[in-house]
Amino acid sequence: MGMRVTVLGAGIVGLTVADELRRRGHAVTVVDPCPAQGASYAAAGMLSPAAEVWHGEEDVLRLGLASLALWPDLAARLGVDLRANGTLLVGYDAGDVQQVERQVALVARHGHAAELLTSAAVRAFEPCLARTAGGALLVAEGSVDARAVCAALLRRVPVVATDPGDADITVVATGARLPEPWRHLVRGVRGEVLRLRSDDPPSRTVRGWSGGEPVYLVPRADGEVVVGATSEEHAAPAVVTAGGVLRLLAAARALWPALDRADLLEATARDRPATADGLPLVGPSGVDGVLLAAGHYRHGVLLAPLTAALVADHLESGVVDPAVDPRRLLAPALAGSPDTHEAPDSHEAPEARGSR
Ligand code: GLY
Repeated sequence: MGMRVTVLGAGIVGLTVADELRRRGHAVTVVDPCPAQGASYAAAGMLSPAAEVWHGEEDVLRLGLASLALWPDLAARLGVDLRANGTLLVGYDAGDVQQVERQVALVARHGHAAELLTSAAVRAFEPCLARTAGGALLVAEGSVDARAVCAALLRRVPVVATDPGDADITVVATGARLPEPWRHLVRGVRGEVLRLRSDDPPSRTVRGWSGGEPVYLVPRADGEVVVGATSEEHAAPAVVTAGGVLRLLAAARALWPALDRADLLEATARDRPATADGLPLVGPSGVDGVLLAAGHYRHGVLLAPLTAALVADHLESGVVDPAVDPRRLLAPALAGSPDTHEAPDSHEAPEARGSR
């Protein structure tokens, strides 16, 4: 039977959860005074489970691949473009190519083989690329425009500024800014990104290293290129720094010299919502009637459709994926005493202003 559900937070995760619940017959209201202005606003929209994974993150890869498989249907339903021609990993010099080799070896250990490419072979995929030392193509990956996705979702789900307080179930999807008693579970990791417009953009996501500096270039329609991202633990508000812009531009320009002629459109900083183990919080919160869908760190766009399915499945059948079960990180009192639960701060500012 349909439930009344309030989703706190109109970022890509909250909106996708709301849309899925609505599709499954629930009455959903999203609460956010500034929809889609948090992490989703900065996100490059990489659908790159293999390019973005690192050692010890096997569950991130597993979840990312499962969610990647859901993206074509979601994009079609929303009427947004999905670029699905892979991620090109590139190393500017011999040291940078070692990073490519490590990434390829890492994903190969999990059954996802990618062939290492010579400098010439890499440039055959992207002729405007600088003369690099080599790379690899991760064929299954892609990207979406997270702003376009959020705009499409905002046309499908109702969003209000304040919580009407009449829900059977509340889903907290406020990214890097969780209300109490979960506030401590997510910290902000600042990411700065640039948006440029180029006459010679890449045709696919280019994920590279230049002089040891990681950088990515993600093409959009109309020649726009999203260049990201810095990564910095901090307690202060997420602001764009001169040093961050310099590092991004230097690394991106080394790999993609045509950026010299590009228009610089925008510089944005938001906090990625990071948990202690790098995995999101999706499922029971320890408070009756409240679920969490937050803490997606670098993977909010990629994991949005899987998160939506997990939340909806949990509501309908109680299942939880143990890897993302929030109770793994909750204090025992909250994780294990379902009778002593109180509602979260309903006045807490919802959106993950600041995540990713
Ligand atoms: N997934 C891209 C980033 O977090 O920078």
